[in-house]
Amino acid sequence: MRSIQKWMPVELVMADSLLVVDRLKSYIYTRYGVVRAVNDVSFELAEGDTLGIVGESGSGKSMTCMSILGLLPQPFGKMVAGRIRFRNEDLHTQSSRQMQQIRGKEIGMVFQDPMTSLNPFLTVGTQLTEGYVVHQQVAKQEAWQHAIDMLDKVGIPEAEKRMLSYPHELSGGMRQRVMIAIALMCSPALLIADEPTSALDVTIQAQILELLKSLQRQMKMSIILITHDLGIVAATCKQVIVMYAGRVMEAGSVDDIFYRPKHPYTIGLLQSVPSLEADREKPLQPIDGNPPDLMADIQGCPFHPRCAYGDAACLQEFPQQRTATTGHSFYCCKDVE
Ligand SMILES: Nc1ncnc2c1ncn2[C@@H]1O[C@H](COP(=O)(O)OP(=O)(O)OP(=O)(O)O)[C@@H](O)[C@H]1O
Ligand code: SF4
Ligand SMILES: [Mg+2]
Repeated sequence: MRSIQKWMPVELVMADSLLVVDRLKSYIYTRYGVVRAVNDVSFELAEGDTLGIVGESGSGKSMTCMSILGLLPQPFGKMVAGRIRFRNEDLHTQSSRQMQQIRGKEIGMVFQDPMTSLNPFLTVGTQLTEGYVVHQQVAKQEAWQHAIDMLDKVGIPEAEKRMLSYPHELSGGMRQRVMIAIALMCSPALLIADEPTSALDVTIQAQILELLKSLQRQMKMSIILITHDLGIVAATCKQVIVMYAGRVMEAGSVDDIFYRPKHPYTIGLLQSVPSLEADREKPLQPIDGNPPDLMADIQGCPFHPRCAYGDAACLQEFPQQRTATTGHSFYCCKDVE
C-alpha cells in the first residue's frame, strides 16, 4: 500500500482496491495526427464490485480497457502517462510474457464483437481449452471437461456437442455466451466486458446480464462493464464513470449518477434515453451536435460546443475536479441542477 501512495492521491486509494487506474493517458499515433483516445483517466475498482463505463461512441471506453490489458492497437497505440495497478502490481512494467499470463488467467475479457473475436476456423472446444491448458498447466482432457462445465454454466444446451461446433454454427446469443465462457475459464479476479450484449435482442440481453451477475456472485469477481445502455448500468453496476472525449466527466455510485447528476453531459445522456415509468410521457431530448475530433487540440472543456450552460470561462482550461459528496466527483466549473 505504501508504494501506491507514492503516486496516488491518498483519497483515491481504497484498501480493498483490486484495480487502480491513475491519470492514464493513451494515444494513438496515426499518419494524420495523434488521437488522444484516453486523456487523464483515473478510477478504481474494489474486489467483487461492478463498475460501469458509459459514454457516446468514440469517448475512449474501449481504449481505456485495452490499456489495462496491454492490448492497444499496435504499433501505433501507446500508453504515454499514468499508472495501472492490478493486485498491487504495476501492469505497465510487466513484460509481454507476464501480461499474457495475466490476460485470460487473472483478467478475463469479453470483446466488443463476438464474431470477429472468435476464430472461425477453430471449434468452440479448442478455443475454450487452449488458454486454460497453458495457464493452468493441466492435461487436455481435464481442460475439455472444465470447458463443458463452463458452457453448461453459461447456459449453452448440449454443451458436450457444442464443443465440436464452429462459431458460424451458433446463434449470436450463443456466441456471446461462448465468449463469456472463454473469459471465465480460469476464474479471473476481474472480468472486462465491452458491450457484451449490444448485438443481442432484449430477452437474450437480460439473460446474459443475469448470468454475469450470478457468475460474479459464485466466483467473487469484479467486473468492468462497458455499455451505451444506461438501463443496463442501472440494473447491473455499483459504480459508474461517464466518459467523454477520452476523459472522465463524472464518477459516482449508480444513485449519484442517476438521481443526483452534476455534469451537463451526464444530465444530457439521462435525458436522451427512455426513463422511468412516471416519465414515459416526457419527450426524449437528444444531445445536439457531435463529440469532438480527438486529434484536434481541444482548449478547455471538450463538451463546451454542445453545452447549454457553457460560457467563455469554460474555454480557459479543462475544469478542475469537484467533489459533490464522498465518492461522487465531476469536472465542470458551473453549478447545474
Ligand atoms: N485503431 C485505431 N486507430 C486510430 N484511432 C482509433 C483506433 N481505435 C480507436 N481509435 C480512436 O480512439 C478514440 C476512442 O475510441 P474507443 O474505441 O475507445 O471508443 P469507445 O468509447 O469504445 O467507442 P464505441 O462506443 O464506439 O465502442 C476514438 O476517437 C477512436 O476513433
Ligand atoms: S465546464 Fe462549462 S461547457 Fe463544460 S460542461 Fe460545465 S458548463 Fe458545460
Ligand atoms: Mg468501444
